[in-house]
Amino acid sequence: MEFGEQTEHVRVELCDRVLCMRIARPDKKNALNNAMYSRMAESVERAADDGQVRAIFVTGTEECFSSGNDVSSFAEPATAPGNSVDEAPPMRLIRAVAQTPLPLVAAVNGPAIGVGTTLLMHFDFVVAGERAVFKTPFVSLGVCPEAGSSYSMPLRLGYDSAARMLMLGESLDAGQALACGLVSEVHSSRQYQERALAIASRLAALPPASVRATKQLLRAPHLEAIERAIERENVAFDACMRTPEFSEAIAAFMERREPDFSAC
Ligand code: COA
Repeated sequence: MEFGEQTEHVRVELCDRVLCMRIARPDKKNALNNAMYSRMAESVERAADDGQVRAIFVTGTEECFSSGNDVSSFAEPATAPGNSVDEAPPMRLIRAVAQTPLPLVAAVNGPAIGVGTTLLMHFDFVVAGERAVFKTPFVSLGVCPEAGSSYSMPLRLGYDSAARMLMLGESLDAGQALACGLVSEVHSSRQYQERALAIASRLAALPPASVRATKQLLRAPHLEAIERAIERENVAFDACMRTPEFSEAIAAFMERREPDFSAC
């Protein structure tokens, strides 16, 4: 698949040596389904081997970065034999992003929920719009941290902020995200994408081997630990998906009602 081809909900184009990926599924608040994960993963993987690409830029729409994993897919039999969390398309994207030697820049406005936040932990620069909100409500959905976030969030945000987000499901607005290091800049909704693209363009203009080497040196101490965290999380996530509380949480989401965990 060429970078220039478009698929539904993810627009990918190469522009001045920056691979731009735009998540565009506004009717579902940019929830990521398997086709979207696969498209994004394939683009990131190919970019690393394509001498034309010097940086990767990811954004959503001005209203929403991503509402995270498509919750309706949780109702599918992901726990069937041969269909484990570890082999699923989200893992391909997470590993592609965690392992790419190319610099990653994100522009985020509106909600960034679940994997919409945890994916960002692997980015080198996250630029927020003033309406950005970051939230990881895994526990209230009856699941647990994913995407290496049980390691990468305490590392990036500090233990207290990570525990507040991962255990209590507390959200961070743009200013709070800046204060704890989740994002590197906050701009107006009109400017945030432009400012993030400017960082990607600066990276793309620098000597590419030096940029890659520097990124790899910064990431090297953590790569193995992130992979081990992903493996632990996937075992725990698989187990969570077999519990009554998970079934209740997903049924409540689909039926647009409050979950009731009193009988779990
Ligand atoms: N998966 C699937 N569908 C989703 C979704 C998700 N993660 N997030 C939102 N949607 C759908 C809603 O079901 C709704 O669909 P419908 O119009 O067919 O009923 C549509 O997107 C609009 O969502 P709505 O909740 O009405 O928009 P909002 O502006 O009031 O709120 C969010 C936006 C993102 C704050 C809210 O949708 C939300 O919290 N979503 C769930 C996030 C989540 O739990 N993600 C999983 C983390 S593991």
